[in-house]
Amino acid sequence: MSQKIRKAIIPAAGFGTRFLPATKSQPKEMLPLINKPAIQYIVEEAIQSGIEHILIITGRGKRSIEDHFDHSVELENILRSRGKWSQYKEVLDIAKMADIHFIRQKEQLGLGHAVHCARCFVGDEPFAVMLGDDIIHHSKKPALRQMIEQFEQYGKSIVGVQEVEMKEVSKYGVISGKQLHDQVYEVDDLVEKPPVEQAPSNLAIVGRYIIHPDIFDILEKTEPGSGGEIQLTDALKALCSTHGMQANILQGERFDIGDVWGYIHATLSLAMESEELHEKLSNFCSKRLQA
Ligand code: G1P
Repeated sequence: MSQKIRKAIIPAAGFGTRFLPATKSQPKEMLPLINKPAIQYIVEEAIQSGIEHILIITGRGKRSIEDHFDHSVELENILRSRGKWSQYKEVLDIAKMADIHFIRQKEQLGLGHAVHCARCFVGDEPFAVMLGDDIIHHSKKPALRQMIEQFEQYGKSIVGVQEVEMKEVSKYGVISGKQLHDQVYEVDDLVEKPPVEQAPSNLAIVGRYIIHPDIFDILEKTEPGSGGEIQLTDALKALCSTHGMQANILQGERFDIGDVWGYIHATLSLAMESEELHEKLSNFCSKRLQA
């Protein structure tokens, strides 16, 4: 029987350069989608997928992420004394959400380096990685849950993928492989940000991974790759050749919220699904379109 996936790592140390100037002095992970910071969606997906321990990898200027998941004693007292019970509960629930740990990546050497910072936290068990820029909205089953169920069946490392337009492939890690059935591929190669003409397929990695702990030995020896950074995809390619690897075609709508359009797209889609906002937004859009 495969080991249980109990731990997830959320790398959140990046500068958010695609979203400047909003991200000059605040972490991109704290930008709100409707009324929740983006990183809260990722933490909620982890919890709903059965994760018990979360490590958020931060960097300088990211203190507000830690504060968000901590108690805010003054605010809690004020809400309680004013009898604002639903807001009080909401604020309290965030602080109690999960067992969340933090570590700082002191140098920005790439995603592979960030994941390597989690070695002591992970120990010797398979674990999940969830990238904060990728919000995958599901109505029935969280993206990570879909992958965990596949892991329980096959016991191999898994990358979460979705089809993207061929002209977009050079923004992603891309896989090639053989389809086993429906959502499941057996991976034979991975390449980080290939030029369009060299891409092995249009199946792009969309920020969800389940990884065998032997990745840490590989990461230690992984040389800088695309963009001069230590790439997780390069280490996964080596892991794939020794341990095998699968991909899961994730069900759900994915938004790249590190990008301004992706962020607007996510905000509008989530607003459309909200009972409170759906009608207001629909009315606003139809008036605008008629104008
Ligand atoms: C990272 C990964 C890439 C993956 C992408 C998904 O790239 O390196 O393999 O496809 O996330 O969002 P980044 O967007 O950080 O450059």
